[in-house]
Amino acid sequence: MHNRKRVIWAIYHKEGTKKRVKLDKFSISVQNARMSHAQQAQISSDVCFVRAYAKINLTLDVLGRRADGYHELATIMQTVDLHDTICLTATGDQRVQMICSIPELSSDDNLAARAVYMVRQRLACSQGVRIELYKRIPMAAGLGGGSSDAAAVLFALQQWWQLHLSPAELLSMAASMGSDVPFFLTGGLALCEGRGERVTPLARYWPASMRWLLLLKPPISLSTAAVFRNLPAGDYTEGTNSRMVSNALNARKDPQLEYLQNSLEREVLERYPEVAQAREDLLRAGAQFVRLCGSGPTLFAPFAELTGALQVQQRVHTLGYEVYLSRAIHPNTGSVCFF
Ligand code: C5P
Repeated sequence: MHNRKRVIWAIYHKEGTKKRVKLDKFSISVQNARMSHAQQAQISSDVCFVRAYAKINLTLDVLGRRADGYHELATIMQTVDLHDTICLTATGDQRVQMICSIPELSSDDNLAARAVYMVRQRLACSQGVRIELYKRIPMAAGLGGGSSDAAAVLFALQQWWQLHLSPAELLSMAASMGSDVPFFLTGGLALCEGRGERVTPLARYWPASMRWLLLLKPPISLSTAAVFRNLPAGDYTEGTNSRMVSNALNARKDPQLEYLQNSLEREVLERYPEVAQAREDLLRAGAQFVRLCGSGPTLFAPFAELTGALQVQQRVHTLGYEVYLSRAIHPNTGSVCFF
């Protein structure tokens, strides 16, 4: 099994044809395009590890409600080094097995499993895969954990199976799994618009005042859908915050703190006292600035220096909070590792 290159078992091969056919790009049908992918798909090793990073939102402008029930957004997201670890193993059967360190996430509904099913369907292939997912990113916390797992699996399969899915194909598969998933395909720092699926990378600039990030998860889980559903139109913005912060970062300048706003924060603080209390506790412990991550309930507090961040971490930890010391990160292809 080890270090042996093997072609993914595909319908194309089952039908007894092994010849590689060069297809005329103007005449191929969708089905033929699938076959073409499957023919090219190869597993270069049996095991693939990939990291799935969490994110924070520097800004989150909700511009309005759309006809499809989603909200039009402008949000600036940055990946941070708090991550889940995913191990993908090629198996001899045709099953997709999902095993998660949190037992209730060990099902086919897990976005990581759905990503594998989606790629298999796209390629018309039935390669067996065991997915082991070690969760570190808190769930339903506003940190994008599930979306990041899905994107990491897509990204890993593209490399591990040596697929030739175009960026547009990957993006559309990602968007069909969730609004945040496209962002996690590239990660780093980006402005995300539309539902969140229109991703524009920003200059790789990060303020020195935000070198260290404390992520504090209050002891509740929130449903993103419920937070959006309950948002009053009075909290909509015109997107000024995200525009101003994007412009500043692209000019490699520190954005003004007044523009680091999250349209969902006022409602979440008002509706969920646990989050308001946690914010108070972070400020009282010495944090200068606290914002909500996505739809919450996780809060982030930036620090210029490690000692300041550690002091506050220690104080809120003593109060019993789940708190992570993190930093901004730009993932690269090195986050995928084969054996
Ligand atoms: O896209 P995703 O499945 O992650 O979104 C979860 C829920 O959050 C959606 O069902 C929707 O209620 C809400 N949402 C929204 N507008 C967005 C993104 C999410 O209303 N742009």
